[in-house]
Amino acid sequence: MSTSSNNVREGILVGCGNPLLDISANVPMNFLDRYQMKEDDAILAEDRHMPIYRELVDGYQAEFLAGGSVQNSLRIAQWILGQPRVAVFFGCVGEDDYAQRLKEKAAAAGLDVHYQVNRGQPTGTCAVLITGTHRSLCANLAAANHFTIDHLEQPANKALVDNAKYYYISGFFLTVNPPSIMHVAETAHAKQRPFLMNLSAPFISQFFMAPLMAAMPYVDIIFGNEAEAHAFATGQGWPTDDLREIGKRIVGLEKLNPSRPRIAILTQGCDPVLLIQKDSVEEFPVTRLAVHEIVDTNGAGDAFVGGFLSQFVQGKSLDVCIRCGNYAAGHIIQNPGCTYSGSPQFVE
Ligand code: AP5
Repeated sequence: MSTSSNNVREGILVGCGNPLLDISANVPMNFLDRYQMKEDDAILAEDRHMPIYRELVDGYQAEFLAGGSVQNSLRIAQWILGQPRVAVFFGCVGEDDYAQRLKEKAAAAGLDVHYQVNRGQPTGTCAVLITGTHRSLCANLAAANHFTIDHLEQPANKALVDNAKYYYISGFFLTVNPPSIMHVAETAHAKQRPFLMNLSAPFISQFFMAPLMAAMPYVDIIFGNEAEAHAFATGQGWPTDDLREIGKRIVGLEKLNPSRPRIAILTQGCDPVLLIQKDSVEEFPVTRLAVHEIVDTNGAGDAFVGGFLSQFVQGKSLDVCIRCGNYAAGHIIQNPGCTYSGSPQFVE
């Protein structure tokens, strides 16, 4: 039985991020070597990576899949909710066929997208290089990199931001437009509404720590995986590798609204998810999938957040939210990219 619910109001959840079309293919390890990439990378494309996209299409039977971290999470939340337009998404695309594909995928999922359109740039893409059960990501943000805060300030969009009750932004968006993140964070704070963020990738803590720390006092819930948590700890100069200790230090960072203490939720692949609160660390087991059941792990973390959000916006307990996150991640791992099949089967 799914948790399909008809009592969540439209537009209750707003997210901002990079709308990317994933170009996904199985490649041999020497493909990664040629571009000096590792099998679990998540990087931004430099000039030397630009041939990757054409090469995947021409030589590796690439699939085109809707991507972009926040958009993935919101599509998954919509799928589980089974009720259209609960989630609203902002990001910047070009005026091209790729944007059209993204819009159609979002609409099919019931996601209410309000793209800013940059006519001078193509829609962003993300190369997803699959080697066995690993995936390496190389994002060419293109139009997504040109999102500007005035899009959020347009009256119709401002109303959507003001009327939401929950806000979710990825760390990836810190590379694009920190003022927009701060605007949403301040709105959430002024209205006493939850603001959720994601550490997104190790390079965010390595190179974008300053804007991340500017947003951190507003963050009520922070998501991350092991590598991202370790990169954050290194960036902070914390002398520990212990994930629980790192989580405790993250929740202890300065917070503007101390009446709602920060929560850290750290995933560890098939090992238990950690729910870290001020005075406790709880573990939530993951039902481990056999290698032959895994199509690819692309989007596992995004789907986890999507499942979590689908319950969080219904006011469900953290226990239910996390179990639904694990359900959603387990489902999309058995499908290509961050896609789903059939109706959700999450049992509360
Ligand atoms: P990607 O980084 O692949 O997605 P992700 O959602 O972060 O998934 P990962 O595979 O990295 O998982 P994780 O390490 O976060 O989580 P964990 O393994 O702990 O990114 C995909 C998207 O990012 C693409 O669509 C792309 O467009 C986008 N993107 C890339 N660059 C971008 C940029 N600059 N801006 C915007 N978007 C960008 O697992 C999480 C959960 O999965 C676990 O808790 C568990 O429930 C489940 N799980 C994991 N492994 C198993 C297993 N073996 N068996 C059962 N369950 C499992």
